[in-house]
Amino acid sequence: MDLNVKKICCIGAGYVGGPTMAVIAKNCPHLEVNVVDKNQSRIDAWNESDLDKLPIYEPGLKDIIKRYRGINLHFSSDIKTNIANADLIFISVNTPTKTKGFGAGQASDLKWIDSSAREISKYAKGQTIVVEKSTLPVRTAQTIKEILEGAASNTKSNSEKPKFSVLSNPEFLAEGTAIDDLENPDRVLIGGDNQESISILVDIYKNWISEEKIITTNLWSAELSKLIANAFLAQRISSINSISALCEYTGANISEVSLAIGSDKRIGEKFLNAGPGFGGSCFKKDISNLIYIANHYGLTEVSEYWQKVIDINEWQTKRISKLIVEKLFNTISSKKICILGFAFKANTNDTRESPAIKICKELLEESCKISIYDPKVNCKQIENDLLVKQSNELSENETGEWIFANSIIEASVNSDAIIVATEWEEFKFINWRKIYKEMRKPAWVFDTRSIINIQEVKDSGINYWRIGEGITQ
Ligand code: UDX
Ligand code: UDX
Repeated sequence: MDLNVKKICCIGAGYVGGPTMAVIAKNCPHLEVNVVDKNQSRIDAWNESDLDKLPIYEPGLKDIIKRYRGINLHFSSDIKTNIANADLIFISVNTPTKTKGFGAGQASDLKWIDSSAREISKYAKGQTIVVEKSTLPVRTAQTIKEILEGAASNTKSNSEKPKFSVLSNPEFLAEGTAIDDLENPDRVLIGGDNQESISILVDIYKNWISEEKIITTNLWSAELSKLIANAFLAQRISSINSISALCEYTGANISEVSLAIGSDKRIGEKFLNAGPGFGGSCFKKDISNLIYIANHYGLTEVSEYWQKVIDINEWQTKRISKLIVEKLFNTISSKKICILGFAFKANTNDTRESPAIKICKELLEESCKISIYDPKVNCKQIENDLLVKQSNELSENETGEWIFANSIIEASVNSDAIIVATEWEEFKFINWRKIYKEMRKPAWVFDTRSIINIQEVKDSGINYWRIGEGITQ
């Protein structure tokens, strides 16, 4: 493929497409990067002059947008023109788990991958490299190839037919640290069967990443590795969470156990924080996908093994909600519970699969009153997630209701219990004596992330429960 890449297009201006293209634009001033999305309001938000209104919150993102937007980084809903002008196209659309039909609850819904491939084949001109960024079931590249070639032959004469080459370049960024992960990745993975196209993409990354970190493989290894990386990470969290429950009965302390096992280099210290269960758009979706693929090939033992990782995760969240009700004398009807943190992890406004959603829903079922504070998640998002509108004010009625709060102190007024659901930095420095004065007694704090200053809580007089710690309290 004799191609001099000058223009890049990315379909999908989401949590992956937006930050990834911003970092490419920053490090490749010789390239023009166009990010397109069918969602006009999302594009408008990316083009907002007030940078606090960008659709995604990521530390460091604002600065890059400020410097490169309108220079070599553009956000547009003109999909047709930007595909036609591009030499290389990233597909970064979402691939959620199917909710109905064959494979519902497990298989990825590939309808947007399919439609993106069709749009590319319709509008692309000349030689074009198509790069899968979205996490996809293994062998999706074959589908993309077939659509690209098939659809092009429907609509174009032989002389006009574009030439495509498909690569898989999965993204390993984690939300909250996306910019740093993109600037300093552990590795970049590029899978493909066309050596020239691979070299072209390698050259783009070499603008800021050393060559030793760029791994090239065949297409299927790249696609599968992305699923497996997420499955292994999720498995580690389910492993430590399962042990957190055991710690609560035995007097062992999960933080001490994590430290002790993590200092063995073979195990490693990262990703050993017990919590309320993993959230985020990827872990559950990717393991479900793995289970679906294993079942498809008749590998029942493999699928059952990975199913347990999801089961433990769901059990962990549920056991926390149940335990909260039990500690509050087995009834929370009309009691006020304050939830600190709604995002699925700190430093993001993303709430997809957040354990806080499940905890709130379960507590609302028990007819309690909830006040929610999160530094980055807005009220509208919480309404969408809970499927319940917020109340203007919390009533005396025996129905589950919730209200949005603008600060920790506002959320905690008259509450019977506080649940720390996300590990936001500001929750580490709460003045518990001050909070205690605002709460109804006996007051409780449930720390599902092991981040609050326990000495201060003890001194304040608040009862506490902390994940993976028992007996001592
Ligand atoms: C998504 C996938 O969920 C993940 O598996 C993959 O690794 C990367 O892409 P994310 O960027 O977090 O992750 O998704 P999301 O924030 O929902 O962004 C996807 C964007 O694609 C949305 O803005 C959506 O409007 C856009 N889109 C979707 C299109 O522009 N065209 C389509 O046909 C479908
Ligand atoms: C994950 C992968 O890390 C990333 O490589 C991939 O590209 C996308 O999926 P993300 O979901 O953004 O990234 O965040 P991550 O930091 O992996 O956290 C996922 C969930 O696990 C969060 O709910 C987090 O709170 C939880 N978690 C993480 C723990 O409970 N304990 C830990 O030790 C680490």
